[in-house]
Amino acid sequence: VTSVGTTDYYSMTMREQAAEILPGRQTRIWGYDGVFPGPTIDVQQGREVVLRQINRLPASHPTLGYTPFTSTHLHGSASLPQFDGYASDVTYPGSWKDYRYPNFQGSRTLWYHDHGVHHTAPNVYMGLAGMYRMHDAVEQGLPIPQGYYDVPLVVTDAMFDVDGQLLYDDDDHSGFFGDVVLVNGRPWPVMKVERRKYRFRILNASVSRTYRWQLDSGEPLVVIGTDAGLMAAPQPVTTLLHGNAERYEVVIDFAKYKIGRRVTLRNISPKNNVDYTHTDKVMAFDVVAKASTTSKNSVPSVLSPYNAIMALTPTADTPTRTMALVRQGGQWTINGETWADVEASAYTRALANPALNAVEVWEIHNDSGGWHHPLHIHLIDFKILDREFDRNGVRVAPRAHERGAKDVVHVGENERVRLITQFGPHPGRYMIHCHNLVHEDHDMMGQFSVG
Ligand code: C2O
Ligand code: CU
Ligand code: CU
Repeated sequence: VTSVGTTDYYSMTMREQAAEILPGRQTRIWGYDGVFPGPTIDVQQGREVVLRQINRLPASHPTLGYTPFTSTHLHGSASLPQFDGYASDVTYPGSWKDYRYPNFQGSRTLWYHDHGVHHTAPNVYMGLAGMYRMHDAVEQGLPIPQGYYDVPLVVTDAMFDVDGQLLYDDDDHSGFFGDVVLVNGRPWPVMKVERRKYRFRILNASVSRTYRWQLDSGEPLVVIGTDAGLMAAPQPVTTLLHGNAERYEVVIDFAKYKIGRRVTLRNISPKNNVDYTHTDKVMAFDVVAKASTTSKNSVPSVLSPYNAIMALTPTADTPTRTMALVRQGGQWTINGETWADVEASAYTRALANPALNAVEVWEIHNDSGGWHHPLHIHLIDFKILDREFDRNGVRVAPRAHERGAKDVVHVGENERVRLITQFGPHPGRYMIHCHNLVHEDHDMMGQFSVG
């Protein structure tokens, strides 16, 4: 890192590397700085970051054969359009691009990942994803676990051949579902913990898989943060539905267990849904010692973060738009349109044209029958107002863990979800897409134009 004034300069090199993911096997991965998944970046609010992304990937994908051009998106950042990882703004192997991140938003869990058009799913699957944590003084002043006790958990799924190489198959553009769940790039990790509270930042960086978390002890996961920062108050939940690209900060209190106890984090599976089929133990925590420090080891009942989005409520004249997620003509679409339509319009076509700083309600309709879609909107944070199941006209409050600022919403089969947001702080064209990356690539992505 080089620092000039309030700007920090970093560089990262995307390259192919052998990694020991399975014991005794060398797996070919693509990693930022050769690491699988990418290194966690910690930044402080108010310090700008310029991140040079150097693409030194090989000329083609080992089995799919495409050229791995890249576009890096910092998911959760209100970046200027030219630094947002626009799908067509690609960097070829042998070149580089500088991305400028303002970091004016409050404390939150972001992640950076590839966004190259039509190849995002296999690029991210090969390893091009990493966590990025923004800290601020309010967060740092709270007694919640921090530093060593604030642990990133990047969850992906994978499939390996007998030699330990990654296998990829998108099942005719429906999705990729691996049979091995990896946490921070390792299967079934066991973490040694002290008898105290830990904060885990769980990122679902999987291509398509949705998880539903539960502790085998029956103790709750105390959710303190969502995609776009801390919640107003902690929400204890016994199960946590976790769609693609969502981030949840949860506190687990290991003081409740005796030394020697193993606590297991499970992915429990509702029936009859292709991507929930893998019921399994995902990782374990072994309680090995008493707490070595008592500082930053509590969760106040009021976290009082500042995210202006959470104060928005619709009025009679708040404009409302509908985004319908539909399967049409063999393609995944939003309001019947695909990214190919955006390309065909020389990138001018937009699904919506909100004014700068306009407050709007967006209704996301999932009419695609048998599928769910984790919908992501770039640039903005939003508040989930309510959800209607099975189009029965009854709007219910969002799930306990969704009651914080978000940038991805899991829209289940036949659901209609209402969001409220404010479009800004920048004008420009930004993407909106399903974060099942296979759907995104084929071709459930559009854009909106602010201002
Ligand atoms: Cu995390 Cu446009 O994506
Ligand atoms: Cu994003
Ligand atoms: Cu989808």
